[in-house]
Amino acid sequence: MSNGYSISKWDSAAEINADLLNLTSQPIWCVSDEYLKEILDNYYGKKCVKSKALYDEAKQYIPNGVQHNLAFNSPFPLCFEKAVGAYLYDADGNRYLDFLQAGGPTILGSNYPIVRAEVEKLLNSCGPVTGLFHEAELLLAREINKHMPAVEMFRMLGSGTEAVMGAVRAARLYTKKKNVVKVGGSYHGWSDHMVFGQKVPGSGRLESHGIPGRTTSLTREVSPNDLKKLEHCLMFNKLRGGTACVILEPVGPESGTRPIDFDYNKGVRELCDKYKCLLIFDEVVTGFRLGLGGAQGYFGVKPDLTIFGKIIAGGYPAAGGIGGSREIINNTLAAGLQSGSKKAYIGGTLAANPLSSLAGYYTIKEIERTNACEKAGIAGDKLTAGIKALIKKYELPFVCFNQGSIVHLECSGAMAFDVSSPVKIASLLKLLKQKDNVMRRKVAMERMGAAYMANGIVTLAGSRLYTSMADTDEVVAEALAKFENVFKHVVKGINIEEK
Ligand SMILES: Cc1ncc(COP(=O)(O)O)c(C=O)c1O
Repeated sequence: MSNGYSISKWDSAAEINADLLNLTSQPIWCVSDEYLKEILDNYYGKKCVKSKALYDEAKQYIPNGVQHNLAFNSPFPLCFEKAVGAYLYDADGNRYLDFLQAGGPTILGSNYPIVRAEVEKLLNSCGPVTGLFHEAELLLAREINKHMPAVEMFRMLGSGTEAVMGAVRAARLYTKKKNVVKVGGSYHGWSDHMVFGQKVPGSGRLESHGIPGRTTSLTREVSPNDLKKLEHCLMFNKLRGGTACVILEPVGPESGTRPIDFDYNKGVRELCDKYKCLLIFDEVVTGFRLGLGGAQGYFGVKPDLTIFGKIIAGGYPAAGGIGGSREIINNTLAAGLQSGSKKAYIGGTLAANPLSSLAGYYTIKEIERTNACEKAGIAGDKLTAGIKALIKKYELPFVCFNQGSIVHLECSGAMAFDVSSPVKIASLLKLLKQKDNVMRRKVAMERMGAAYMANGIVTLAGSRLYTSMADTDEVVAEALAKFENVFKHVVKGINIEEK
């Protein structure tokens, strides 16, 4: 690996999908009831006393006692006080290896000192926000363009969710067409049009609570990694208002949890050109993680619009933005006092504030100087290879694979179901049949996550691990010893009650 990208080799989607299928057809393998009781009593019960007390009080003021979706809350959320490089420390002083990395933004490692020093200087001079133009906005936009030539212009927003909302609006305005096609199972934030077909492809409105059916009626879902079905959808859309855009996560839905073939993105590009709709790459996770050129650089595919989030503000707040050609951005996105001039209305009080812009700029500069994406990718490869060896040693059906610094560890297969079908009612029936099974496997995934946490490993929901530049060989070796301690206690055929 010497091309600056985090991925050393693209694994075959067919092989991984076959392993995942095998996993979902197995009884549930999980840490035993005895081991669960032991960690609940001896770790969570005795060593996390302050976290528990804080959580108990938080429940009175905060829904479910926790604000963030990624805060692991089984059996209860631990309260974290300190983050340094590869390590996290909770309120009781316990130390953890951090493979959540805030959900992805901190590829340099947590609380990276060089970026923090620049942020502190800025805070001492102008504070975090003025609501007016600051040079940092230019620095960041120019830096992104240097690495991603397709992003001639960059409009910064408050989050990935906001950026997706703005990009869809821009695509509709530019193409004068209506439908939005997303790949089933993908996550594109929580706007009304996008909470559709999340996690499980074909699940449609399963999670669209509080969103009227009309609002999602123009969102179409296609099966992951299936160009034929995408073409059918684009063809059919011609009869119902046309397709404004196809939006996808370029490493596959849920940050590559559902792997795709290397050529899939290229195939989607060709179909978008054929059906004259925009291709939107959601690079919230992959932007400046796969490499400085993002997924578009890695796959050599030029999207019309790019969605940014996470690393774009280096782990500081208000991370989001839309990138694209001058032609598209200038003609679609309103800015300054231009609103109302037949352009899409987007904005945000804190969008593009000096703090986020400057943090993003220095983060990208540091990623370039330190070759952070490649280093994080090497750590991801080593971690994956080590976990695979443990899976083999303990004869488990678990599936571990990675796209560089994005590591997937599927223990129950909860994220591997697919109920998509061209016929809506068929999807619904498949979903009804599988729902209990999926939910039980989700509980098993959380139980594994709780066991990892009790052994000092923080994961994303018990099934994903982001590596960072701070993950040295010592960190990886320590993680593998901890994973082994969990895997030792895994047994087959656990009877999990749905929560
Ligand atoms: C691929 C993808 N798109 C969009 C989003 C939403 O970004 P944000 O959480 O900044 O709204 C996320 C968040 O995890 C994401 O992973």
